[in-house]
Amino acid sequence: MTVKRVGIVGSGIMGSGIAEVAGKAGFEVSLRSRQQNTADRMMAGLEKSLGRQVDKGRLDAGERDTVLGRVRAVTDLGELAECDLVIESIVEDLGVKKHLFNELDRVCHDAAVLATNTSTLPVVEMAMESRPDRVCGIHFFNPAPMMPLVEVVRCITTSDETVETARAFAESWAGFIVNALLFPYLNNAVKLLDAGVASREDLDAAMKGGCNFPMGPLELLDLVGLDTSLAIIEALYAEFHDPNYAPAPLLRRMVSAERLGRKTGHGFYDYG
Ligand SMILES: NC(=O)c1ccc[n+]([C@@H]2O[C@H](COP(=O)([O-])OP(=O)(O)OC[C@H]3O[C@@H](n4cnc5c(N)ncnc54)[C@H](O)[C@@H]3O)[C@@H](O)[C@H]2O)c1
Repeated sequence: MTVKRVGIVGSGIMGSGIAEVAGKAGFEVSLRSRQQNTADRMMAGLEKSLGRQVDKGRLDAGERDTVLGRVRAVTDLGELAECDLVIESIVEDLGVKKHLFNELDRVCHDAAVLATNTSTLPVVEMAMESRPDRVCGIHFFNPAPMMPLVEVVRCITTSDETVETARAFAESWAGFIVNALLFPYLNNAVKLLDAGVASREDLDAAMKGGCNFPMGPLELLDLVGLDTSLAIIEALYAEFHDPNYAPAPLLRRMVSAERLGRKTGHGFYDYG
């Protein structure tokens, strides 16, 4: 199926980034936020992000206006009825996502493909709540407008046509390989910090200097969001019961204290 209109549900870090990517790729985008003020904030953020690209000479002003014209913020889920592909990017909670897939199945047209940007939750559980053959994962990386990799995740019920539609949209193919490797590493960095093996700065400097990583593990956790990271690690543990995936107690304590990283201004580091 040819995708013309893309719906995105959730206007957090990832939803907003995916809206920018899809708008720049030429799709008509409806971004659904539950509240009008969040929707307005998202549009202002998009304008700012595109404006910065114009200032840096990476985008011309005409293109910025075209992209802005393609993206509209909506609050009613029913506004996604005409979308050919809907990507949900709401909170990493299986119960909440399952409920959303049930609702999406009700409001979206029959041929529409429904996708989740979940980092690790089982896609099949969401598929079974709606249209099993037309559900898959389309997993973006953060920040979505800058990261070239997109993983298309096929679950047991996903049809070939759905995979093709998603692949044509994402133009890339993989599985949840990156997070299965990345999150035990991040989790173990928190365990080392908690054990007093090294300071946060030394841990980050070691991985940047020793492995040539652009960011250290604690810096990356702050960027991803500690609540989202904990949910990912918990989901991996629930699925595989590998002790590497057992969440670091410090990570859990920081989430309880609402030190979620950049999005709350405090995480392993403080952000002014
Ligand atoms: N942050 C990352 O680095 C990253 C990378 C790839 C994928 N993801 C995945 O993307 C999804 C969103 O993550 P994020 O980082 O954008 O989180 P976020 O906290 O920035 O945004 C979450 C969004 O979900 C909305 N939301 C919360 N509860 C809801 C509900 N009950 N119904 C509808 N909407 C609800 C919030 O209002 C918010 O807009 C998650 O599934 C996460 O695992 C995150």
